[in-house]
Amino acid sequence: MRLLAAADYQEMSRMAGEFLKDQLKTNSRSVLGLATGGTVKGVYSELVKLYSEGQLSFSHAASFNLDEYYGMEKNDVNSYFRYMKEHLFHHVDFLPGSNHLPDGMAADPIHECSRYEEMIEKAGGVDLQLLGIGENGHIGFNEPGTSFQERTHLVTLTDSTKKANARYFKSLEDVPGQAITMGIGTIMKSRSILLLASGAKKAEAIERLWNGEVTEDFPASVLKRHPNVTVIADEEALMLI
Ligand code: GLP
Repeated sequence: MRLLAAADYQEMSRMAGEFLKDQLKTNSRSVLGLATGGTVKGVYSELVKLYSEGQLSFSHAASFNLDEYYGMEKNDVNSYFRYMKEHLFHHVDFLPGSNHLPDGMAADPIHECSRYEEMIEKAGGVDLQLLGIGENGHIGFNEPGTSFQERTHLVTLTDSTKKANARYFKSLEDVPGQAITMGIGTIMKSRSILLLASGAKKAEAIERLWNGEVTEDFPASVLKRHPNVTVIADEEALMLI
């Protein structure tokens, strides 16, 4: 695992933007694994900027998002589908049909999970997976205790994750109780991984990721077993290391 230090959120976002640009330069047909949340918003702004300057193109690329709330309409203001449209997809040149997220309204969520997993495989697997990290070490929506072998699955969100994400909703009660997420087994199959962390709230998680043991109680720790992981974290997130 390689750790790159950034001064602040802006620098972390710029560095991550360059990282993705290099990925697309090396392989314009890259399959990108994308994430949502506050941490990656700045990266998407960077990508939109680089695209508008003619520095990169997504026209041969495809994307698969990590997760989506279950029971969430696609165009709900809080859906990850909507987030991706607003922050990235609408502003760049992905071809229609090349962006994928789990269907949060699928009548049969178990079937949706295997369908999503198969689509990723058919696309040739993820080349670069972008990740944030939850304060409890979750990646995607894989909460502590999730098996490292798990593929795309339906999860029940923990209270701590619901609380952390409640800032985007009207109230805590409005945060969905379930989500469909790529599993840790799915994430580990991606050829390279870029994890971002910013702010003091993530400092404990980054300290544990860096110094702690590999354990299912702390999902992100599995990344130590992956041969190609880069972490970009800002000073606040690094303050306990
Ligand atoms: C959510 C997402 C994760 C994300 C995490 C951190 O639960 N499912 O993919 O990494 O929260 O979010 P933030 O970047 O807003 O701190």
